[in-house]
Amino acid sequence: MIQEALEQSVNFIRERVSIKPKVGIVLGSGLGAFVNDLKIEQSFAYSELPGFSAPTIEGHAGSLHFGMLNDVPVAVLQGRIHYYEGHSIDKIVHPVRTLAMLGIETLLLTNSAGGMGDNMKAGDFMVITDHINLSGANPLMGPNLKNLGPRFPDMTEAYDVQLREKLCEALEKHKINYHTGIYCGVSGPTYETPAEVQFLKTIGGSAVGMSTVPETIAANHMGLRVAAVSCITNLASGISQEKLTHEEVTAIAKKVEQTFCQFVKEFVLSL
Ligand code: HPA
Repeated sequence: MIQEALEQSVNFIRERVSIKPKVGIVLGSGLGAFVNDLKIEQSFAYSELPGFSAPTIEGHAGSLHFGMLNDVPVAVLQGRIHYYEGHSIDKIVHPVRTLAMLGIETLLLTNSAGGMGDNMKAGDFMVITDHINLSGANPLMGPNLKNLGPRFPDMTEAYDVQLREKLCEALEKHKINYHTGIYCGVSGPTYETPAEVQFLKTIGGSAVGMSTVPETIAANHMGLRVAAVSCITNLASGISQEKLTHEEVTAIAKKVEQTFCQFVKEFVLSL
């Protein structure tokens, strides 16, 4: 079923798109403007792609674009679906798996996250060095899809070291202050309680969010090199005394969107 759905998506796209993407990019909430930097050949709403599910939340567009960033062929997933929206976990990773089957070698994941690290403030960026999966879900549960990858994938370097360095260099080149750290992936949709945030800090987390981890797992399974960066849209619950709202989270992401576009472009062109 999963394999057939992937083949359907891939065939549908291959029949309509001539670009062979080398890099895949997932744009998180409020970070969609990056597509304006592309020379787009073809765009699809997720709703018109077989096997894809449309996002249900504000701030997530739900379109797949194929285009060129200068001379680099890219595929950009503008908006994603989340586990908390009620989709099965294989639906969540379907878009990334599709891009892997279309031949991308590198995947850049971006997201909004709550900051827990020292000296973090809203609007900062964090290069993800590793993750802790606390969502209770793993997209590789169930029979292993042998054509995609091994039963027990290694996750020692889930976020590729060289790509991490390239991300840091791109940020430095644009004089953007950034952090590095461990991303704790939770299911949501509630934001954390202050007690949960204390727990996440204690186990080594620097940021917390509701996405990215399933995609990183599926991409590693298929042998992709993965890089990921969080936009720290807020300090996590209890660190800031302010109450959290989705509107505020997307507003901060929007505010730093241009800065984000600059270093993501730099990063892609450095590959
Ligand atoms: N917690 C979880 N997910 C998030 C947060 C947060 O504080 N901010 C943005 N996404």
